[in-house]
Amino acid sequence: MKKGMRDEKSSLFMENTYVPELLNGTESGRYLALDLGGTNFRLLLVEMLSGKITKEIVKPYEIKDEARIGCGLKLFDFLAECISDFTHENGVADLNLPLGFTFSFPMHQKSIHNGILLKWTKSFAATNVEGNDVVIMLQEAIERRGDVKVDINAVLNDTTGTLLKGCLLDPRTRIGMIIGTGTNACYMERADRISHWESERHGEKEVLIDIEWGAFGDNGTIDFVKTYFDRQLDSNSLYLNSFSFEKLISGLYLGELVRIILVHLTNNRLLFNGILSKKIQEKNSFPSSQVSLIEEDNVNNTITNTEKILKDLNLKYTMDDLKIVKYVCELVSLRGALLLSACLSTLIHQIDKDDVTIAVDGSLYKFHPRMKIWINKFVKLLAPAYEFRLLLAEDGSGKGAAIASAIALRLQKSYTIH
Ligand code: GLC
Repeated sequence: MKKGMRDEKSSLFMENTYVPELLNGTESGRYLALDLGGTNFRLLLVEMLSGKITKEIVKPYEIKDEARIGCGLKLFDFLAECISDFTHENGVADLNLPLGFTFSFPMHQKSIHNGILLKWTKSFAATNVEGNDVVIMLQEAIERRGDVKVDINAVLNDTTGTLLKGCLLDPRTRIGMIIGTGTNACYMERADRISHWESERHGEKEVLIDIEWGAFGDNGTIDFVKTYFDRQLDSNSLYLNSFSFEKLISGLYLGELVRIILVHLTNNRLLFNGILSKKIQEKNSFPSSQVSLIEEDNVNNTITNTEKILKDLNLKYTMDDLKIVKYVCELVSLRGALLLSACLSTLIHQIDKDDVTIAVDGSLYKFHPRMKIWINKFVKLLAPAYEFRLLLAEDGSGKGAAIASAIALRLQKSYTIH
């Protein structure tokens, strides 16, 4: 982390987000938000009064595979089409409303309103976007249509959005963490520790830093943690040797990891009498939501979910098989919780505040029955001198974008006045 902050070689990106302040209670008005990055893609219209959200309209849109992995220009044309649909539907297409753009990928920012995509992660691979400013790409796509006026005044990561949403619920929030399709965290750092600052400084004391901890270990530092199964998962993944830490933990990979282990055990005649079904041999046929369901069986000492999942996979099982499958899900989840806790507690030490709230969102965090319990327990052990709490900040990547847009507008005004 320290190397990343000093612009030295590090697997952690430590990107400056140029968000130097949180809400101060004066933000009022209407803001648009666009949230792209996980499984969902949504548009929001949010009304704020004195720093509080008073009204919100949210519309989810389906993002098809061809948009995620096809031509980049078409992806942005599709986003602009949805903005047009949404703003017309809500009668705000001509108002040039400020728009906060949550783009949940590693970005290099020169200011709060531009972000160059460094590399795609998760399951996105649209062409000709890497190395380009996604705000300009979106603005140009909107202009190509010519039927809607918006002002994209902030671009942010989902962890930033989650932190900002968390601040509304608890002003002690200093960390935003996502454990969903991917995993990442951002936190409030002292501004004087950050070398990378491309826009004019305005005496900022603090600034939010997007760690991109999903990439932790891409330089080999966590190779010692990786097992035979992790390497197999990596070799079948979209981006080889990239986002190493994320692949050990997050929702896009946890289930696949369990599947690889189950196949290996079966091939070694330790499971299912050595007989694999066709389905379990298919990549990604075991989503992480199923790991959460099997973990529910572990917590409740039942077998109902596990049986149903194995039946759906056309597997013939014994009671011992059920126990083994449950045990594999427990181990893979527990390792994920331990690794996450190691990083989170390091972050708490880095912030060094007696009391800190961590705003969290993401499907794996929400639906895994004991991820939060474990993380609480392990962080207490690893950072015993600090008070902390995990706070679920739902839809931070959506509402957080509107909040970022409101903060950006306020800062813009104050910089022009001074
Ligand atoms: C991936 C992205 C990161 C995002 C995380 C959670 O790690 O690179 O930007 O925050 O997924 O969505």
